[in-house]
Amino acid sequence: MAIAELAGKHLVLGMTGGIACYKIAELTRLLTKAGATVQVAMTEAATQFITPVTMQALSGRPVYTSQWDGRIDNNMAHIDLSREADAIVIAPASADFLAKLAHGMADDLLSTLCLARDCPLLVVPAMNRQMWTNPATQRNVAQLRADGVLVLGPDSGVQACGETGDGRMLEPQASYEAIVSFFQPKVLSGRCVLITAGPTFEPIDPVRGITNRSSGKMGFALARAAQQAGADVRLIAGPVSLPTPWGVAREDVETALQMYDAVVQRAQDCDVFISVAAVADWRVDRASEEKIKKTAHGGVPSLSFVENPDILATVARLTNPPYCVGFAAESGELVVHGAEKRARKQVPLLIGNLGPKTFGRDDNEVVLFDAQGLTRLPRMDKDTLAATLVREIARRLPDTSLIS
Ligand code: C5P
Repeated sequence: MAIAELAGKHLVLGMTGGIACYKIAELTRLLTKAGATVQVAMTEAATQFITPVTMQALSGRPVYTSQWDGRIDNNMAHIDLSREADAIVIAPASADFLAKLAHGMADDLLSTLCLARDCPLLVVPAMNRQMWTNPATQRNVAQLRADGVLVLGPDSGVQACGETGDGRMLEPQASYEAIVSFFQPKVLSGRCVLITAGPTFEPIDPVRGITNRSSGKMGFALARAAQQAGADVRLIAGPVSLPTPWGVAREDVETALQMYDAVVQRAQDCDVFISVAAVADWRVDRASEEKIKKTAHGGVPSLSFVENPDILATVARLTNPPYCVGFAAESGELVVHGAEKRARKQVPLLIGNLGPKTFGRDDNEVVLFDAQGLTRLPRMDKDTLAATLVREIARRLPDTSLIS
């Protein structure tokens, strides 16, 4: 599905030699699916790891590997290929190629193209951990940053050589998100955004508990969108099986009380609090420390409940609260309940939907309630909706430059 940030963008995707070249097949697919045109250029070494034929099939465009390619009639491949580019992305970027870039060398098509560019340059390093931590590489990376090159990653983890450490290339999805982030308008630049997402889990005993059907998708999509809009994002997640969006600081919790503690600790330092989590209203009073056994003569245990604190309402009532955004899933009468809930929780913005039908789905249709009344948004997939909501939140924030 095309996304606004990449639709119509022209990217030169430069591949250099490294085993991580296999990840670029998937990255190319993600970029083209999002509506970008991807012009692949490969170094000689990159062609040893994956063939130009594969990259041509995936990008739908001829792949260039040589400065002397006869297909470009003026022999100016380095100028022609970078002329229309909105950005050049080097992925994987080898230690050797980073060294070349840092020193302005231009001895093959890709390095010449980078030197002749008139657009931003993004590099996604991939190499063995010793090569990455080598002072020479670190010097080159520092030089590239100083020259305005955006360095994405690397990750840490198991490497193709069998060693473990820094230098792994970002996974295709994370590389893709970082590239989308680069093109996103930075409407939340300089802001700290705290988000809760997912369900909570309230134990009955060590093996049983009470939870709900929130998937966490909306909260994670908002965390991703806020990061892409330039915010420093802290995500407090209940038990969900979702990958952490690129560039987001995540803390996992289980119970409502743990979520409450994590939020209260951070809320005062943040500019925005978006409470998306489906927090359990009640927890079992004195959960059993031992597994509750079935009795031989039948019978069922009886549970008593106590109310959990309302995290959103607590934050909204702080002396200097962040801008608070609540979510409300209603099963009917959204207009009445949404407005009432906004007033009761004392939040400036409440986003209502007709859940629980939306739980786990990839799209959502919401209504915004604020001091001016209500605004209905059309049905959208959760990523597009998240980007829209981030813009709606950003334009409602007080301008901190006006506060002395
Ligand atoms: O009252 P209700 O649960 O419908 O309110 C939903 C909103 O309140 C959501 O933003 C949810 O994250 C937040 N909430 C909370 N703490 C609770 C219950 C709900 O922060 N204990």
